[in-house]
Order: sequence, then structure tokens, then C-alpha cells
Amino acid sequence: MNAVHGANPLRDAADRRLPRIAGPSGLVIFGVTGDLSRKKLMPAVYDLANRGLLPPGFSLIGFARREWQDEDFADEVYQAVKQHARTPFREEVWQQLSQGMRFVQGNFDDDEAFETLKKTMDELDQAQGTGGNFAFYLSVPPKFFPVVVQQLKKHGLAEEKGDSWRRAVIEKPFGHDLASAKDLNGIVHEVFSPDQVFRIDHYLGKETVQNILALRFANTLFEPIWNRSYVDHVQITMAEDIGIGGRAGYYDGIGAARDVIQNHLLQLLALTAMEEPASFDADALAAEKTKVLGAVKLPKDLGKSTVRAQYAAGWQGGARAVGYLEEDGIDPQSKTDTYAAVKLEIDNRRWAGVPFYLRTGKRLGRRVTEIAVVFQRAPHSPFDHTATEELGQNALVIRVQPDEGVTLRFGSKVPGTSMEVRDVSMDFAYGESFTESSPEAYERLILDVLLGDANLFPRTEEVELSWKILDPIEQYWDRHGKPAQYESGTWGPAEADEMLARDGRSWRRP
Ligand code: BG6
Repeated sequence: MNAVHGANPLRDAADRRLPRIAGPSGLVIFGVTGDLSRKKLMPAVYDLANRGLLPPGFSLIGFARREWQDEDFADEVYQAVKQHARTPFREEVWQQLSQGMRFVQGNFDDDEAFETLKKTMDELDQAQGTGGNFAFYLSVPPKFFPVVVQQLKKHGLAEEKGDSWRRAVIEKPFGHDLASAKDLNGIVHEVFSPDQVFRIDHYLGKETVQNILALRFANTLFEPIWNRSYVDHVQITMAEDIGIGGRAGYYDGIGAARDVIQNHLLQLLALTAMEEPASFDADALAAEKTKVLGAVKLPKDLGKSTVRAQYAAGWQGGARAVGYLEEDGIDPQSKTDTYAAVKLEIDNRRWAGVPFYLRTGKRLGRRVTEIAVVFQRAPHSPFDHTATEELGQNALVIRVQPDEGVTLRFGSKVPGTSMEVRDVSMDFAYGESFTESSPEAYERLILDVLLGDANLFPRTEEVELSWKILDPIEQYWDRHGKPAQYESGTWGPAEADEMLARDGRSWRRP
């Protein structure tokens, strides 16, 4: 027993293991007929209910233009759950969950529909005991954010009465540059206070992303070498094998850098590079992420330190894939990037001079997201050059997905009578070390919204700082020519390889 700190380890241990269960509440989804809602949000709600993490009277309201009745909506949720839920289907869970499902039909500018929504929420407070606690999930194209939040205000739906809460959940993209993000923040904060707003970056809901913090700050091993004295560079890769699918309308004009570097990749950079927060609390985490994002510096020559490209036709997974410009709904003159690579620096004592290379692309060789911290070579080697010529640099690779885990790469003697050193790796795989499977990011994030836990949600400042990093790059690209091309199914354009080669480095082939 730790008498000094007066802790009771037995009680504390029990507390930690108690699942965090949401109190009385409901979720209103705007844009409920969209892909995200069907593939991610509805299944996540069911999975939470199945894991016993939602209150018994939990309610789900869908809002959309479709002419549906409550039963049609419930049927839609049922199909989505059957197809996409992570956990097994259980009739009794479904029966209970479907009791609290309602549908409200209308356009976003339709006052009558918002009055119906209000009545529906009141009715659920009575029938399901939701206690006036509702989160509004804006799973809608960004151009509709302003009208939806203003309608919520106009109809008194954002108001927290007594002990009840109201929260707004906002999907990315949060603006398309710094100016539009600021405008949007202004509009949202006219209606909701900062602690009522939850901006989704679903990468922060991933287990392996949260594990960056555990790896760095719950161990002694890595932190002493996590700096410019030992680290040569960092590579953050988010590669996808899919093309743009049916998302031409969203993607064209947005592109890879705005779609995922501005949010997912810069958040990964922030977690990898930030200082240790004073506690694992939302304010402390945001303060450190904000500091490090504020210290990010762009290299002077953007022509040499950024690359954008588009996929051309090629072979992917044994099938012929068309090029981006031939995809349905894409302007054949489009200059939208489906691949982007950038070199960033962080202007602080820990990282000065250490490049962070970020890259992402669609239709690349394989779906993989990883953060590779690549260490400097040993300053001196007692071995002959020939003994170590096959030795790479030491690296710690955080495998975010799909093969979740961590790899440590280092040199080891090859068995035999001569001294020869080659790379080997030590692996930690989630699947082998833990019996629990990882929840989907959206399960964690929806639960956190209902609990009012803001740790995993980027704040206004983080979003704005990320645009500040990206804006000059996008402007440079606008002024300079056309994107390069890369064959579908490969690892991106030759220009990206040249960008690293100029620094005497190369991309990893995960
Ligand atoms: C989304 C992007 O945020 O992330 C998509 O808009 C991308 O373009 C997706 O495909 C990837 O998410 P995940 O979780 O499959 O890596």
C-alpha cells in the first residue's frame, strides 16, 4: 500500500477496470442517409449498446430529406448494423436500441422540421428518460454546417437547461483553408461554447494512435532518445490502396493534403513530437499539441520539399484501375492531388534540424499507416565497413494499421565465423499480446462525446494552426503547374523519391 500518497490500490485498480458508461442521453444525426452514417456511425452506436456502454433509454434520431417513417429509419439502421457492426448481432440489444429510434424529415432550412425535431426530443425525454441530454452529429457537407448550427440556435435546441447538456459533433473537413476555418469557428462558437464542440478527427479514436502516448510517456526506454541528438528523421505514411470510389463530389478540389494531411497526419505528427503533458487531460494535451503545431516550420523551397501527384491507370489487386482523371464525376482538367508528400521541420530545442516527412496517397501499393522514427547511425563503428554494409538505420515503427503494433529495427550479428551485421526486428503485435480486439475509432469517439470527455478531439487552435501549415503549400501548388503522375498500385511518383534522395534518404517500403 502506498501510504505516502494515501492511495488505495485495490479500489483504484477496480475503478480503472470499470467501463465508462454514458449517462441518459441521445444522439441526433444530420446527414443520416450518407455513407459515414451507414458504415461507421450507426454500427458504432450498436456496438456501444452491445458492449453495455449506452444507457438503457439511449435514443437515436435521424434527420434527413428522405421521406421515411420511424420504421424505415430503424430498418436502415438494422441493415447498416447487420453489414458493418464489429460485434455479433444480438436480438435483445437490437430490440432495446430500436425503441429509442425516431426519424425527422426535412431540409436544413426548414423551420417546421426543426420544430418537429424539438418535439421529438421532448417526447424522447419523457418516453426514454434522455434527460434533455443530446449530441448533434453534423455528418453533412461543410457548406451546410452554418445553416444547421443556426437552426439549432433559432429553435432553442443548443440551449442547456438546468443540468442537461447539448453538444455539437462536427465532422471534417473543418474549412478548406485558414480563413474558412476561422469563419466556421466563428459561426459555431456563436451558438455553442468551446466545451460544447467536439471536432472529429477519427485517427485520434484509433487504439494505436492513443498508444503513441502510452509508448512515449508510460515507459522510460524511448523518451531519452526521442530528440535531435538521436533521431535522424521521422516518416509518417498514410497509404491507401483504394481510389476515390464514389466520392468525386467531395474529393475533387479538396485533394489528399486537405483531406488527410491537414488533420490526421498533422495530429500524428503532434502526438509524436509534442512534449509530455502535465496530465492526460483535455486542456493539458491540447496545450502541448498546440505548442508543437505552432513550432512547425515549412522549408524555404516548397518546390523541392513538397510533391503532389495524381494516380494514373494501372493494376491494383489484380484488377485494372482507371486513372484519377478518368474517374466518374472528375473534371478531366482537374489538378486535385491524390498523393501528397511534404517535408516539415519543428523549430524547437528537441527537434531543430530533424525533418518530418509526411506522405499520403490513394491507389498506392498497399493500405498502411505508420510512423517511423529513424535513428542516426552509430557515430563510430569498430567493425569493418564490409561487416555493416547491409545494416540500415535503427528505427522504431508504430504500425497504426492494419497490422497494429510496434516494430523495433536494429542490427544483429549474422551467425557464422565472420563478423557481419544485418538488420533484424523485434515485434509487438496487438493481436498476439491482447485478447481484446480494438474498438472502432467511432465507438470510442461517440462514447467520449456522450461522456463529455474532450481528450481526443482537436481544438480550434489546433485546426487553425494546421491550416496555417498547409495554406502556403496549397497556394504554392496553385501557382505552379500541374500535379505529377504515378501509376496506380505503385508507391507514388518518382518526384517523391527524388525529394528524399536530395536529403540522402529514402522512403520506407512498408
Ligand atoms: C478519411 C478521408 O478522413 O479517412 C478518406 O476523408 C480516407 O479519404 C479515410 O479514405 C481513411 O480512414 P481509415 O480509418 O480507413 O484509415
